Amino acid sequence: TDFYAVIGNPIAHSKSPWIHAEFSRQTGQDMQYEAILAPVDAFAATVAVFRERGGKGMNVTVPFKLEACKISRRLTRRADVAQAVNTLVFSADGILGDNTDGAGLVRDIMINLEFPLAGKRILLMGAGGAARGVVLPLLEHSPSVLTIANRTKQKAHLLQQQFSRYGNIVSGDYADLGGEKFDLVINATSASLKGRVPPLPAGIFADESMAYDMMYGDGRTPFLQFAKQQGASRLTDGIGMLVEQAAESFFLWRGIRPETDRVIRGLRNL
Ligand code: ATR
Repeated sequence: TDFYAVIGNPIAHSKSPWIHAEFSRQTGQDMQYEAILAPVDAFAATVAVFRERGGKGMNVTVPFKLEACKISRRLTRRADVAQAVNTLVFSADGILGDNTDGAGLVRDIMINLEFPLAGKRILLMGAGGAARGVVLPLLEHSPSVLTIANRTKQKAHLLQQQFSRYGNIVSGDYADLGGEKFDLVINATSASLKGRVPPLPAGIFADESMAYDMMYGDGRTPFLQFAKQQGASRLTDGIGMLVEQAAESFFLWRGIRPETDRVIRGLRNL
């Protein structure tokens, strides 16, 4: 049996153990996957203990994605560009750090939801760790523009500077968006955790547009409620992204791509 885990703080409500149990059942892999709570000041030590116990890999969640980057001996290109790691692979020659969040988001949007990104006007709200991880994968699918809006304008500008060589990026705060329309609006802020919605101007959703909240919860998130009132055609929460990033990590560890459709539906019905 090979051992894997998700590490974070808090971790009790993580759905990753359930998702990976489904994947391993489905593919017949001999593995176990648990949730590990790390003290906020003891991430590296907690990873080291799990590795010594024979652990083969880990998923990393809030607030450790930057630290996970630092303890990795090697980084995949996408983790290096994002400077954030959500997947660790342990081997004899050290720790490999990857970031599967962006690939999971793009796969959910393009394959599960059949929403092509090429030529689309995309608005990404937020400029923290969650936003940083998805910028490059979104740009790789040639949107006509990727606008990054953030409450603290300067952080959006920094992301723009860092990623502008990969595609057409515009940055600003929410007030700067007045009069503009987007085909896809993605919420990568943590505002939902406090029941808040970033202050988007009215009329931001184009015809046939999609609102995508990287957060999820019981019922509709505050952002998706707002998007519905504002006339967005399609409303999506982050459950699909969650399962797809997990599948991408599973593939990295086991070399098998699990089927995600039923797992996404199963999670919605839990
Ligand atoms: P994460 O890793 O989840 O992205 P983070 O790095 O703390 O966490 O970033 C949180 C993001 O949510 C930031 O973009 C933050 O905006 P600021 O950079 O201006 O702080 C955004 N955010 C949090 N609460 C918000 C709110 N009530 N309205 C708008 N944006 C909010």
